[in-house]
Amino acid sequence: MDELLVLKDSFINESSTVTSLSGLQQIRIKYLGKKGIVTAKLKALSSVSTEIRPLYGKTINEIKKFIETELDKKEAELKKEEHKKRVLSEAIDITLPGKYTPPGSEHPINKVLHEITSIFTSMGFEIEEGPEVELDYYNFEALNIPKDHPARDMQDTFYISDDIVLRTHTSPVQVRVMEKRKPPLKIIAPGKVYRCDADVSHTPMFHQVEGFMVDKNIAFSDLKGVLELFIHSIFGPRTPVRFRPSFFPFTEPSAEVDIGCIFCSGKGCRVCKSTGWLEILGSGMINPKVFEFAGYSPDEYSGFAFGMGVERITMLKYSIDDIRLFFENDLRFLNQF
Ligand code: DAH
Repeated sequence: MDELLVLKDSFINESSTVTSLSGLQQIRIKYLGKKGIVTAKLKALSSVSTEIRPLYGKTINEIKKFIETELDKKEAELKKEEHKKRVLSEAIDITLPGKYTPPGSEHPINKVLHEITSIFTSMGFEIEEGPEVELDYYNFEALNIPKDHPARDMQDTFYISDDIVLRTHTSPVQVRVMEKRKPPLKIIAPGKVYRCDADVSHTPMFHQVEGFMVDKNIAFSDLKGVLELFIHSIFGPRTPVRFRPSFFPFTEPSAEVDIGCIFCSGKGCRVCKSTGWLEILGSGMINPKVFEFAGYSPDEYSGFAFGMGVERITMLKYSIDDIRLFFENDLRFLNQF
């Protein structure tokens, strides 16, 4: 009987220090397995003297029960602990702040470019594009600017070779489109242009939007209507608009379009050089010579064209006084749009 109590004590000792499920399994085998200590004692019951056999049998059975219950309890505890450990080790700390990527913003030039194109597409104009590396022929010749024409000097050209240039304006798209398509045409051609020029209001690369409309019986009044609607959409419905006679080799008659100075409301200031007006684009009726270069009959078709600088319009719209700010990529400037 003493042996049995020692057995129980040694089980209690061993099981109280076990920390893993595999260790616990070892103990289970040691005591309750086929060759286990308790099993052996039960097998040996018949060799115990008859007087103490009932008490001995009862005690060993109680110890077996006790060991079984203790092992199950311990197993449940260890499983719970192991689960807890796993959950903790796999846990994601959702309180950690995420990595912040500040959202970018559209460049002011692109923003205004999109605004301009969407005003014209809403009037039914289609977008066409032409090459930035252009033939002298499309950039000058076909726009009625022959080799020794003084207008070539106005446009400080980057020459690639004798007959290839970086386009100095988007007007060559007019002839390229007319060569491959027949009227009616309502086109805008946005894009980059290049001139050898740099100061507070000029950069060697800048953006223009060209526009033109060709059909039978297009009149100067159509040009006025389209441009007035455009100007009122982009600068506000009460902006004064003025068509001032001018000259471009590819339009006849030609007009420069001014808006009432948005800084002084026409009273006269530094920006409008005390004239009360700001020039914003060039325009006119397409010169019959250009139609001839494009293979259209000037007797059959007429049309208007216009061209504007996107940087200039953006500078006026947002009161920016130095064009170079657009290309310095200073986020303190760009984030304001
Ligand atoms: N191409 C001219 C320039 O870059 C702008 C221009 C003026 C375009 C009159 C036109 C126009 O289509 O009709 O200065």
